[in-house]
Amino acid sequence: MIVSATKACRRGSALLSRPNSEGFARNWGWVAVENSLDGLTIEGLTRRLGGRTVVSDVSLRVRPGQVTCLLGPSGCGKSTTLRLIAGVDRPDAGRVLADGEVLSDKVRHVPPESRRIGLMFQDFALFPHMTVAENIAFGLKGTAQEKGRRVAGMLERVRLSGFGEAYPDQLSGGEQQRVALARALAARPRIMLMDEPFSGLDDRLRDGIRDETLDILKDEVTAVVLVTHDPEEAMRMADEIALMRNGCIVQSGAPYNIYNAPVDRDAAAFFSDVNVICGTVRGALTDTPFGEFLIPGVPDGTEVEIVIRPQHLRIDFDRGGKGPNPTREDGVAAKGSVVRARYMGNESLVEFRMEHDGSMLNATVPSVFLPKPGTQLWLMMRRRRCFVFPKEVS
Ligand SMILES: Nc1ncnc2c1ncn2[C@@H]1O[C@H](COP(=O)(O)OP(=O)(O)OP(=O)(O)O)[C@@H](O)[C@H]1O
Ligand SMILES: [Mg+2]
Repeated sequence: MIVSATKACRRGSALLSRPNSEGFARNWGWVAVENSLDGLTIEGLTRRLGGRTVVSDVSLRVRPGQVTCLLGPSGCGKSTTLRLIAGVDRPDAGRVLADGEVLSDKVRHVPPESRRIGLMFQDFALFPHMTVAENIAFGLKGTAQEKGRRVAGMLERVRLSGFGEAYPDQLSGGEQQRVALARALAARPRIMLMDEPFSGLDDRLRDGIRDETLDILKDEVTAVVLVTHDPEEAMRMADEIALMRNGCIVQSGAPYNIYNAPVDRDAAAFFSDVNVICGTVRGALTDTPFGEFLIPGVPDGTEVEIVIRPQHLRIDFDRGGKGPNPTREDGVAAKGSVVRARYMGNESLVEFRMEHDGSMLNATVPSVFLPKPGTQLWLMMRRRRCFVFPKEVS
């Protein structure tokens, strides 16, 4: 990644310059390259609490200006991981590094206040007895004039100029969130840790504030770890998603890859409802009511689950007891009877009971499609959108 020279200087990145004979850099000569250790690195982070391993061998790399979302269900270890990075808790194993400097390992533990890490939590935790300006200035170093300039700059950045003398309880939830962001960023942290920072906001405010926050974080070129249990939020905010389960990162990657190439059924199901069709492998094939699926390299007798999201089922009409002809893209059609159809705003959700085994399948259709219960229709699976996994034993 190439960053601007000023930002790179602040972060101490390696600067490659080509001074001319007067000792000045030519326009074409100033190029900043990211130091390979810039940003946050965590390696094999492990924490045992109450006799259980709640964070297990977690490794991550977050570069300056990048947002990584720790995404996972309640209790999977997201906040504990943040606490270990912040330094308010110590790992049993593993290391935390910022810009190549070890913050935590077996022997070293830099105290939280010396880590240059900004924190932001769900409740914002503004000091109620301090004005907005005092809240933002809290923890800043320098002369009163320098602090005043930085506070004014941050207030402008979060569009709250003129609110410096107000107290937090005189502000709306969205305004308080922006003050908390200004306070966290005022000291120019190299890493920003955010634990469900938008969950206290009203639905209508949330989208706008998320986008604004993201713009500010990108401008500040901070490495951000954002904790959320909301997959939509992670998809919207993250450059990279680290999906956590039972203390471990089960998959990490760009939102597109995590959504379109999940590692297992639960990873797929974390982002949307899924339909699951079971089968058994025979001669590299699994026969289902939707046709045969090629499953090479899997021994005969292996039970597999074919997983498909509701929007990737295709619905077709009944033609006097017959369905559409099979195609390479969609395979064979299977017959189902509508149990319920609901209009969801942007799409319609249709629930089917399948004729072949009585199982239920859900399909979503963009726009309004509300067939009556009992209507016989045919379903096809978009082959390229199916995921096949070994059957999970629950
Ligand atoms: N001090 C503690 N002693 C014992 N167990 C703890 C302690 N702190 C956390 N835990 C346990 O560790 C697990 C992970 O907790 P953590 O707060 O990291 O979860 P989380 O992913 O942030 O969940 P949520 O989304 O609900 O905030 C939980 O099962 C929790 O009960
Ligand atoms: Mg938590």
